[in-house]
Amino acid sequence: MAATTTISCTLFQPQLSHSPSTYFRATVAGHRRRFPRMSASSGAAVMEAERDEKEAVMLKKGIAELYDESSGMWEDIWGDHMHHGFYDAGEDTVVQLSDHRSAQIRMIEEALSFAGLSDESGKKPKRIVDVGCGIGGSSRYLAKKYGAETRGITLSPFQAQRAQALSAAQGLADQVSFQVADALNQPFPDEQFDLVWSMESGEHMPNKAKFVSELARVAAPGATIIIVTWCHRDLSPGETSLKPDEKALLGKICKSFYLPDWCSAADYVNLLRSLNLKDIKSADWSPNVAPFWPAVIRTALTWKGVTSLLRSGWKSIKGAMAMPLMIEGYKNDLIKFAIITCKKPE
Ligand SMILES: C[S@@+](CC[C@H](N)C(=O)[O-])C[C@H]1O[C@@H](n2cnc3c(N)ncnc32)[C@H](O)[C@@H]1O
Repeated sequence: MAATTTISCTLFQPQLSHSPSTYFRATVAGHRRRFPRMSASSGAAVMEAERDEKEAVMLKKGIAELYDESSGMWEDIWGDHMHHGFYDAGEDTVVQLSDHRSAQIRMIEEALSFAGLSDESGKKPKRIVDVGCGIGGSSRYLAKKYGAETRGITLSPFQAQRAQALSAAQGLADQVSFQVADALNQPFPDEQFDLVWSMESGEHMPNKAKFVSELARVAAPGATIIIVTWCHRDLSPGETSLKPDEKALLGKICKSFYLPDWCSAADYVNLLRSLNLKDIKSADWSPNVAPFWPAVIRTALTWKGVTSLLRSGWKSIKGAMAMPLMIEGYKNDLIKFAIITCKKPE
């Protein structure tokens, strides 16, 4: 178990008392605060900014510890891709773990194809960044596929180290590298990468506007940006927030997986528009990921799953307990597995 478990998950709850979409609007408008200003005094504003800052630090610590603790177990059972698989919609007959692993590779290929990335030489990305890289499964796959130089960032020191070791073992040490760094403050100069890849990391980002602006900043002119992430449903016309029971369900998931407020795919699209990015496209792939969580639960309930879970610690156990909530969220049409892609103008 990770040494420090001092984060009270209730820390992240108050954000959900406000609509995630309202938070989004606040961040788009350039405000860092999550709530409407209660007092005009600058003292109160400073205190609130400090509180936000503290929450962000605690959130990052929780995320780092969750992945430090659980990545070895995940790799043991599932291999080096820590993301959903992509299945034909309505497919419910996938049984073998190897087929689920193939579905995870298919997820990468489907995302590239949705974004319109070309396999033609001359058009292949030469420099790629993997934002929220896990143990580098996507980084290595993309580096091999395109012969590209790839950089990965993660909050988890364990993941960065493991990603580097796996890459070295596969002869990719000169082509692929990893470091511990924050996606909201990326350690790269502007306009570095032809492909900016974020596979299931956006849901962890407490400031979606900053997240997206960093993705756009490091993208070279003409680069493709791919965001595959958990979203809540788009709000209907006239709706200003999710329903209380929906917020309550997301709140429980947030506590277990170290997630801040959620937003919708439409929110992401608006953010990308606000940055003048082009060819913006999004899709709801929820029907294509339906077999994934039931499969993860099945593997968690095997002897190997249970013993690895107990060995890895409390944060991982809490995460495992939230898996049925993800299934419930998808079934209720509350959680959406979204892909959002765009290009940076030349
Ligand atoms: C579910 S894992 C996905 C890993 C990887 N993309 C994959 O598909 O195998 C989420 C990843 O996001 C990373 N992450 C979350 N918040 C981050 C942040 N603020 N900066 C950098 N990485 C972050 C975590 O460290 C973890 O590596």
